[in-house]
Amino acid sequence: MKKVKAAVAGMGFIGTAHVEALRRLNNVEVTAICGSKRCTAARAEELGVETYCSEYGEILRDPEIDAVHICTPNYLHYQMAKDALNAGKHVICEKPLTTTKEEAEELVTLAKKKGLIHATNFNIRFYPLMHQLKAMVEKGDMGDLFSVNGSYLQDWLFYDTDYNWRLEPEQSGDSRAIADIGSHWMDLIEFVTGLRVTEVFADFATFHKTRKKPMKPVDTYSGKLLAPEDYQDVPINTEDYATVMMRFNNGARGVMTVSQVFAGKKNCLSFDLAGSKKSASWVSERPNEIWIGRRDTANESLLKDPSILYPEAGSLVSYPGGHNEGFPDTFKQNFTRIYKAIAGNAAGGPADYPTFEAGLREILLCEKIVESNKKGAWVTL
Ligand SMILES: NC(=O)c1ccc[n+]([C@@H]2O[C@H](COP(=O)([O-])OP(=O)(O)OC[C@H]3O[C@@H](n4cnc5c(N)ncnc54)[C@H](O)[C@@H]3O)[C@@H](O)[C@H]2O)c1
Repeated sequence: MKKVKAAVAGMGFIGTAHVEALRRLNNVEVTAICGSKRCTAARAEELGVETYCSEYGEILRDPEIDAVHICTPNYLHYQMAKDALNAGKHVICEKPLTTTKEEAEELVTLAKKKGLIHATNFNIRFYPLMHQLKAMVEKGDMGDLFSVNGSYLQDWLFYDTDYNWRLEPEQSGDSRAIADIGSHWMDLIEFVTGLRVTEVFADFATFHKTRKKPMKPVDTYSGKLLAPEDYQDVPINTEDYATVMMRFNNGARGVMTVSQVFAGKKNCLSFDLAGSKKSASWVSERPNEIWIGRRDTANESLLKDPSILYPEAGSLVSYPGGHNEGFPDTFKQNFTRIYKAIAGNAAGGPADYPTFEAGLREILLCEKIVESNKKGAWVTL
């Protein structure tokens, strides 16, 4: 079998997860990684990747490389994706796709013009039970959808000594919590329900008005290791917290809260979906279980077991019931679909993975949410 050759740029937290997930696909070979000088050689050795570089152009000039994964801080995504497309590479980009709507629109147009595969890594869709719930909605099991409420809560920026490039708008964009984690929640909810958000009303808060910035660079989730004398005070002007009310195109209502300063919630996306026949609740920290709520008979707990799921969800399950699948498996499932398309083996029809259009959709939602918070008013999409 001819293998597709992939390179991964940005070797922090998520770049490493991309390499590990790609290793699980039988039709892909990770031939190169690109990162900062500081970490690339060590990561290459750790991951057993022969070629590494700290100049992104080296990957693009290599005619052997078919696909590039972009796992760098947000502000780099646009230029790196554009350069990769212009070099004829398929692109798998981390979320948020870009930091402005104009950039995201340009990437969508360019990818289509070049006829290349383009994907945004909204991996949370690929928990099997999220495809199950989508199928339940599509088959009418839930009835008409009334409302959805939920949150995405984390605590890794809880202390004012917690620091990361995401706190700097020049690197992260004008929004932080919404762009970083709200984008996942909104992508998931529109995917599962098939509904479209039509109006938003947002309320942001920044609880740490200043934070202590480390005087040396640190990768995501590793700031806790520094000593007090290693910090300097800097002002913070992006949101620690946001609540957004939403109206959907069928008249349903929604509300989402995101927070990166919620002690004890490590990385918890959850939602409750109310329909006219039944309701459903899901929590990402227990991803192999959906609670189904009923008015007139007993409630249910639906567990991830391929023998009892709809085929749409069963195809994302690699292990029998009771053998839990989690975060790394969502990358494997998303990449399986993307690389099928890259290898020319997709079934045809619409992409079964999130494309740059899904990335653009979240940038648009994010911009409207920022606008609503500034105006203190409903904003229409
Ligand atoms: N889908 C998900 O679940 C998920 C989870 C975490 C992060 N992300 C996204 O992934 C991206 C990276 O986040 P992270 O948490 O891995 O950050 P990180 O800080 O841990 O890693 C970023 C890496 O990029 C490297 N880098 C910076 N400039 C570079 C350049 N010019 N060329 C090559 N490498 C460069 C840095 O040295 C660092 O190692 C962000 O856009 C983030 O939103 C997605």
